[in-house]
Amino acid sequence: MHRLPVILALDPFTSGDPLEWVGGIVDETRDLVSGYKIGLLLALRLLEKGYSLRDLAGKLSGVELVVVDFKLADIPDIVASVIDILGGHGYGKFIVHPFTGGLRELVERGVDPGDLILVASMSHRGSTEFIDKHWRDFVELALDIGVWGVVIGANKPGIIAGARRLIDERGGGVKILSPGVGAQGAEPSTAIKSGGDYEIIGRMVTGSSNPRGKLLELAEAYQGG
Ligand code: XMP
Repeated sequence: MHRLPVILALDPFTSGDPLEWVGGIVDETRDLVSGYKIGLLLALRLLEKGYSLRDLAGKLSGVELVVVDFKLADIPDIVASVIDILGGHGYGKFIVHPFTGGLRELVERGVDPGDLILVASMSHRGSTEFIDKHWRDFVELALDIGVWGVVIGANKPGIIAGARRLIDERGGGVKILSPGVGAQGAEPSTAIKSGGDYEIIGRMVTGSSNPRGKLLELAEAYQGG
């Protein structure tokens, strides 16, 4: 079976051992998914238990696509340094917020644009207050800088389709990553049908008593799409 266009969000909501939790899920699912997303919740749970970034990197070794989702939104000096540290541990793609401005400076400071993913629209309702008003600007910026991807919530099919058109018109290879499937309400494969490349799924799979079985169940939705 081909890998599903799914990036599994590794957010441990349980209070057990987070490293064992990650190791178990990755071992069970690595041949089925396109990659994994790690974030602040996992990092804090690991720190609480005395684990290091190196321990986590060990569990993810050999995984081609690891998205680091700290939603960085700081001055370029800080963002570039954070990316430098994480890159040193072998992590590859970093989600950053473009609303701060100054992302070109990151590239001038040596950050590889191919390692960046920009948030263009979020899946929560409040995204319409500010971020969604600028999704087009953010996708244009992504194309101008040549970043790897943009994040657009799966529950925003109109924005996904608009971004796809823009990316295709400009012949860019920017990927569209869409969270919001399952626990946040969107049906699996909706974002892909609108022109997305990957769906980011967390609790629907990781909260299941059988994550592998859940992914195999989802495979039908993607094959049908
Ligand atoms: P669930 O469990 O809801 O997990 O499937 C979703 C994951 O995706 C993250 N998330 C977002 N990340 N823009 C982002 O960059 C968004 O709009 C967005 N919505 C959800 C969330 O942190 C979790 O890891």
